[in-house]
Amino acid sequence: MNNKNTARAVDRAGKISSLPGVKLEKMIDSIDEAIIGCDKDGYINIYNSANERREKMSRKNVINKHVNDVYDFHSGKSLLMRAITEKKPILDQYQEYTTEDSGIYVEIICSTVPIMENDEIIGAVSVMKDYSKFKKLSKIIMDLQNNLYSTSTDKASKPKTAGAKHTFSDIVGENPLLRDTLIWAKKTAENNLPVLIYGETGTGKELLAQGIHNAGARRDKPFIAINCAAIPENLLEGLLFGTVKGAFTGALDRPGLFEQAAEGTLVLDEVNSLSLPLQSKLLRVIQEEAVLRVGEIRERKINTRLISISNTDPVDAIRKGQLREDLYYRIAYISLCMPPLSKRLDDLSALVDYMIRKYNEKLNLKIENVSAELFASLENYPWPGNIRELEHVIAAGMSALSENDLQIRLKNLPPNIRHKLSSVNNAGGKNRSAGKTLENTLHSVERRLIKSVLKKNNWNISKTARELDLKRQSLQYRIRKYSLKSTD
Ligand SMILES: Nc1ncnc2c1ncn2[C@@H]1O[C@H](COP(=O)(O)OP(=O)(O)OP(=O)(O)O)[C@@H](O)[C@H]1O
Ligand SMILES: [Mg+2]
Repeated sequence: MNNKNTARAVDRAGKISSLPGVKLEKMIDSIDEAIIGCDKDGYINIYNSANERREKMSRKNVINKHVNDVYDFHSGKSLLMRAITEKKPILDQYQEYTTEDSGIYVEIICSTVPIMENDEIIGAVSVMKDYSKFKKLSKIIMDLQNNLYSTSTDKASKPKTAGAKHTFSDIVGENPLLRDTLIWAKKTAENNLPVLIYGETGTGKELLAQGIHNAGARRDKPFIAINCAAIPENLLEGLLFGTVKGAFTGALDRPGLFEQAAEGTLVLDEVNSLSLPLQSKLLRVIQEEAVLRVGEIRERKINTRLISISNTDPVDAIRKGQLREDLYYRIAYISLCMPPLSKRLDDLSALVDYMIRKYNEKLNLKIENVSAELFASLENYPWPGNIRELEHVIAAGMSALSENDLQIRLKNLPPNIRHKLSSVNNAGGKNRSAGKTLENTLHSVERRLIKSVLKKNNWNISKTARELDLKRQSLQYRIRKYSLKSTD
């Protein structure tokens, strides 16, 4: 390929050639993924070394030829041409073809984007990954899953419950929004209806799914969680529903995850990322309570409890056309929302205590609390990463402490975390009022006060109740309510 051609084509795609000192052709030749590009009429103008190796063709014999003269596509049209005519990216798409010149059969997973200039399409570029690698990987995953969840013939052996180690009692917090979710979650644990859990990243959706599984009659059965966004579309279908030998090249007789989680729970994380065609297949499985392995005509009955997880509000996902409405009604008999940390700051103190206990154990420390200054910073921060981010902050703060330390202070945090917390504080603590109703603030103050007086009195309940002018039962109720423990 001539240098000018390549540089121009990719420059139009993304201005890469304008980066100082970057040798564009070298760059696209040095990567593992095959890249091919064409102009708006389908004439090839980019063809990198990874492609030459895979397809055993020389660049000079391919450049300037039409894609349809170079490849014989087995199913449908060239993805480059489709992206140009449909005027939209086609991501993670499976494609198989034979090269006209070298006669090589190729299976790929391909992402193709149209290239625009002044609102006009001037071509398209595809980045292709070797499908056989995915197949090997998926075989390894399936073999591992088979070993983990195989329905053991040895009835004496304990059924495998890999994956669900948490229970409802691991979910810390008394915030009314969270408690409401937990009340409903406990009800759903008693039946087998599909549940949808939604909420921002790091809010504890997976934790809740595990809690539901472990609180129900299926607790001794398999719990399998899969992230739908992490697996290419056409591998996902086989992985979920199973395959029969010969369904496609290399396919074996295999049960899918629905069958492997038989009698147990299957969690479909990021369910909103499933393609619409796969959503309709899922809908059918739920309606029929039966799966059709890929390549098979006979349905198999299943008895698997489905928990779906979405990181966006399902109503929004339906409005944006990402989630089929009919599927929503089937996967969400009960819809549970995990509130963001910014709306449950009254739980901050309990969560911080919980994280401190957890990392005291891991790091062999005796930390008791965080300084008032640090706590104020934590209260002001908006927590986009929610509880996962809070855990990261506490763990990072504790990692620098030694066995004589009793408190985490702002200065113990690594500079990047200190800066992110202080930049919010300097901005005037805009978040201070977020989610902090009067009631929430009072709860937080009450919890801290009771905890400190209990500690002072060595957890003597009568003495503490007297000092706080509370009845014994009333103090005990509050100890339970705020999950206070003498080991705190
Ligand atoms: N209420 C809680 N009490 C204690 N720990 C919690 C709580 N909620 C979340 N965590 C902890 O925060 C981390 C993130 O939780 P989890 O993985 O369940 O979040 P998620 O909502 O599934 O996140 P993502 O959308 O990014 O997958 C985990 O380490 C979990 O144990
Ligand atoms: Mg998760």
